[in-house]
Amino acid sequence: MKLVRTVADLRADLAERSGRVGLVPTMGYLHEGHLSLLRRAREECDVVVMSLFVNPRQFGPNEDFEAYPRDEERDTRLAREAGVDVLFAPSIEEVYPDGFSTTIHVAGVSEGLCGAHRPGHFDGVATIVCKLFNMARPDVAYFGQKDAQQVAVIRRLVRDLDIPVEIAVCPTVREPDGLAMSSRNAYLSPEERQRALALSRALRAAEEVVASGERDGEAVLAAARAALGDLEPEYLELRSADDLSPVERVNGSTLLAVAAKVGRARLIDNVVLEAE
Ligand code: PAF
Repeated sequence: MKLVRTVADLRADLAERSGRVGLVPTMGYLHEGHLSLLRRAREECDVVVMSLFVNPRQFGPNEDFEAYPRDEERDTRLAREAGVDVLFAPSIEEVYPDGFSTTIHVAGVSEGLCGAHRPGHFDGVATIVCKLFNMARPDVAYFGQKDAQQVAVIRRLVRDLDIPVEIAVCPTVREPDGLAMSSRNAYLSPEERQRALALSRALRAAEEVVASGERDGEAVLAAARAALGDLEPEYLELRSADDLSPVERVNGSTLLAVAAKVGRARLIDNVVLEAE
């Protein structure tokens, strides 16, 4: 595995390789969710590039950029073991040199849900992902379904700007007890981790009522809310899985998305409810 830190070195390295290039963008502190993306990229591509960059522009001023967990040594080892060919770990100055002035704003799908609670977050995501696409020029890029709104923003970005990359989305990876894997789970104390289980429990409760025939949005949300217990969500919403437009009934593929603060961790999770 080659470790590169500049765009010039990344391009020079990739120029010497041939075949289908897969990019797995990450902010590091790898967990099974990231590893599932790397494994799929390894299966489907000739060249696997992983980026490792904690992107300051997607954190708000009062968010956890400084505290975000980092362990480059461990990430490097895990990336090597997962068969990554090129690890791109640039500095902040390499990505945002003096004078950097461009922001990409994807309207519509970036509004509501996390967008309503994290102003500027999806501008930061769209900008860095667009840059990474231009830097690595992948044929395919891999993202996790856990960040469903991020996926919708990136799909829209790619369509709107005619970026020649295929977006592959991999299922959310969960701990055996249901907690969706996240680098931010590292913030949870043992007691908070137990409380955090309410998120996946709420999604399962919704799945169960939909499986038993419920289609009314309010009733599905009520089942999920009851399973959340005393955990107050930042949002708990049903959206069309296609374009994230709000829906009142569960029809076709419907996204149920939830976010809540547990201790200092802001956690998100979602499920796609399938109804005929
Ligand atoms: O999902 C993430 O880890 C980040 O938002 C991404 C896509 C790597 C952009 O910084």
